Amino acid sequence: MKYKLITTDGRAKRAEVETVHGTVQTPLFMNVGTVAAIKGAVSTDDLRQIGTQVELSNTYHLHVRTGDKLIKQFGGLHKFMNWDRPILTDSGGFQVFSLAGLRKIKEEGVYFQSHIDGHKIFMGPEESMQIQSNLASTIAMAFDECPPSHAERSYIQNSVERTTRWLERCKKEMARLNSLPDTINKEQLLFGINQGGVVDEIRIAHAKTIADMDLDGYAIGGLAVGETHEEMYHILDVTVPHLPQNKPTYLMGVGTPANILEAVDRGVDFFDCVYPSRNGRHSHVYTNHGKLNLLNQKYELDPRPIEEGCQCPACRSYSRAYIRHLFKAKEMLGMRLCVLHNLYFYNTMMTEIREAIEQHRYAAYKAEKLAGMEAGE
Ligand code: GUN
Ligand code: ZN
Repeated sequence: MKYKLITTDGRAKRAEVETVHGTVQTPLFMNVGTVAAIKGAVSTDDLRQIGTQVELSNTYHLHVRTGDKLIKQFGGLHKFMNWDRPILTDSGGFQVFSLAGLRKIKEEGVYFQSHIDGHKIFMGPEESMQIQSNLASTIAMAFDECPPSHAERSYIQNSVERTTRWLERCKKEMARLNSLPDTINKEQLLFGINQGGVVDEIRIAHAKTIADMDLDGYAIGGLAVGETHEEMYHILDVTVPHLPQNKPTYLMGVGTPANILEAVDRGVDFFDCVYPSRNGRHSHVYTNHGKLNLLNQKYELDPRPIEEGCQCPACRSYSRAYIRHLFKAKEMLGMRLCVLHNLYFYNTMMTEIREAIEQHRYAAYKAEKLAGMEAGE
């Protein structure tokens, strides 16, 4: 992997990341396809059309269904879902904590029950790396624990120390897997994950520790889990300066367009979030004048596209009135069009962000974009 810093504007970074699956431009938004499918009946052809650079899938979900071993036999996730650009796989850590039933965290890893059929599973750092190696994603995420937002300081401290020990094991296992002859992607990258709740000292100490481990990139996890936006921005303010400037910085699971605009301003260059697809499936769409709920009666005869001038597949062909009707009639096309528009909105915002940084007018761009979205229609 090569990370080329093109320019900066304040703390915002504009970079290019070269991988075995092609080069991507940052800051970027990864489109979430948890089970190797973007919810809302969005195909990989659609992703190419709406400018997606990186697709994100999940270790935990693919392990419990359909199984990483089958996907390896098929030739890996890229071939399986017909996507030849970069894929990032999350490690399973976070999903085990948020989804799985009855779990026990031990030094060796986590014992839990599948959320599909309740069967017992063990996942530790080595298992997570093996699954991600079978999937052959471009970027694998370290196996971490995301402590609950209300956890006590002593719990967070112990948890972060274990996450560091797990990270050392991930790094060792990834190196071993990448050297095996039958590994599909022998250049699989490993990103470490910073944790520490909203405790500045723990976040900073952990960032320094993992920065010294020479990983391919660094994520900030454990945010957007119940703290306020101001607390999240503060943690970014104090943490990002301790992560390597010449590597990707990834803020996991974030967020709203406003969250992304603020985080870019604090040096973050990778994002992912379920909001655009989840909101789209519930008839909520993003525009430069705020979010709309297309089920609102005021759109029943509205001939305009969701957003005037938007070049997405929904706005190029359909009115708000028609999409509202599709939702009323419970036709899948309604969801699909809204998800496509929302992902296009996010991807396009990232393009605007990159241009603004290149032209050293990021602060003005951010202020204008935020003001527009807050003003409403
Ligand atoms: N996705 C959102 N937050 C997190 C986190 O803290 N850890 C992992 N592994 N994935 C996440
Ligand atoms: Zn659109």
